[in-house]
Amino acid sequence: MRNYIELIDNYEVAVYPKRDLVIVKGKDATVWDEKGNEYIDCAAGIGVATIGHSNPTVVKAITKQAETLITNACVFYNDTRALFLEKLNQITPPNLKRSFLTNSGTEAMEASIKFARVSTEKTDFITTMRGFHGRTMGALSGTHKEDYRTPFEPLVPGFSFVPFNNLEKMEAAITKKTAGIILEVIQGEGGINIATQEYLDGVRALCDKHNVLMIIDEIQTGFCRTGRMFAIEHFGIEPDIMTVAKGIAGGFPVGAAICSDKVKIGFGQHGTTYGGNPLASAAGLATIDFMLDNNLAKQAKEKGDYLVSKLNIDELSKVRAIRYKGLMIGIELKEKVQPYLVQLMKEGIIAMPAGKIVLRFLPPAVITYDQLDRVAVVLNRILK
Ligand SMILES: Cc1ncc(COP(=O)(O)O)c(C=O)c1O
Repeated sequence: MRNYIELIDNYEVAVYPKRDLVIVKGKDATVWDEKGNEYIDCAAGIGVATIGHSNPTVVKAITKQAETLITNACVFYNDTRALFLEKLNQITPPNLKRSFLTNSGTEAMEASIKFARVSTEKTDFITTMRGFHGRTMGALSGTHKEDYRTPFEPLVPGFSFVPFNNLEKMEAAITKKTAGIILEVIQGEGGINIATQEYLDGVRALCDKHNVLMIIDEIQTGFCRTGRMFAIEHFGIEPDIMTVAKGIAGGFPVGAAICSDKVKIGFGQHGTTYGGNPLASAAGLATIDFMLDNNLAKQAKEKGDYLVSKLNIDELSKVRAIRYKGLMIGIELKEKVQPYLVQLMKEGIIAMPAGKIVLRFLPPAVITYDQLDRVAVVLNRILK
């Protein structure tokens, strides 16, 4: 067998700190390494494989589309893209009418930043501390973490940061130049921090008052992750732009900036070669149908509640707090999570960090109750 670790270490630009694991196969919430060892995958490609790995519905849709037409730029019309756009329209709030399709989350953020500038004829953005919106220059400019930002300065000007869930500071930061407020409803990378109803209602009102676009980043929270199709549904919030990616297409790289009528952008002002290509659209369409047909949002809610209910919270002395909605689960420890991630992996469970002290679980919503029981047993033992 080839040494895949050595090959990747030799030939990949070394930007990713790695785990010592070569994943070669996946099915539902299970993945296997090249030696045939089995793992319960609570990382799911960082919250991507919500419908499970290699979901047969999506495999079938991709295969059929690949045999028919793989590529077609958006300057031409296309049947599969048309149906995917209609589907997105059907599952999002009524004020969100049109989508700009991308290949990733960060590109959806770039689009939203450009759209907000052009639509409001203003330049600046307010985002939140601990917020994460991507790695391209615009999205990075709205991302808070110093380590990600500093090496690449100067970034796009006009971004400021305020504490999450603090309406007063948000209001104070608005100026005549503010084009948009960019927010996650639940901060993912930042440690699974959940916005309050009062905060989101307040931000919505501030945006209306000051002609500022409310840009909600649902890239991690969207597509059933939190127990609803979108996390905004927990709060009844209608943003002016919603960005999505990750769970949208069963692992196929797709993103979107989904826009209300407040977005006014002209022909030629933005574009991408691959966005909305037929293969991506077929994957997205099949994924959403699978989610709706299997009531996956409800499954995510029930399974998230189940896993947390199985934790012996009073006995977990290493745990400071548990924050979760559906299958977006953060366990904040009193110490660094890294050794626990290693230990979980030895026990056949893959999890993620969210910062230095939060264990993050984003399993596929098709995870079985037996697998959840196993995760709970191990967590109860190692976090005691
Ligand atoms: C909330 C949020 N926004 C944006 C992004 C960037 O998405 P991508 O990695 O697809 O560019 C991520 C990725 O983790 C994310 O979690």
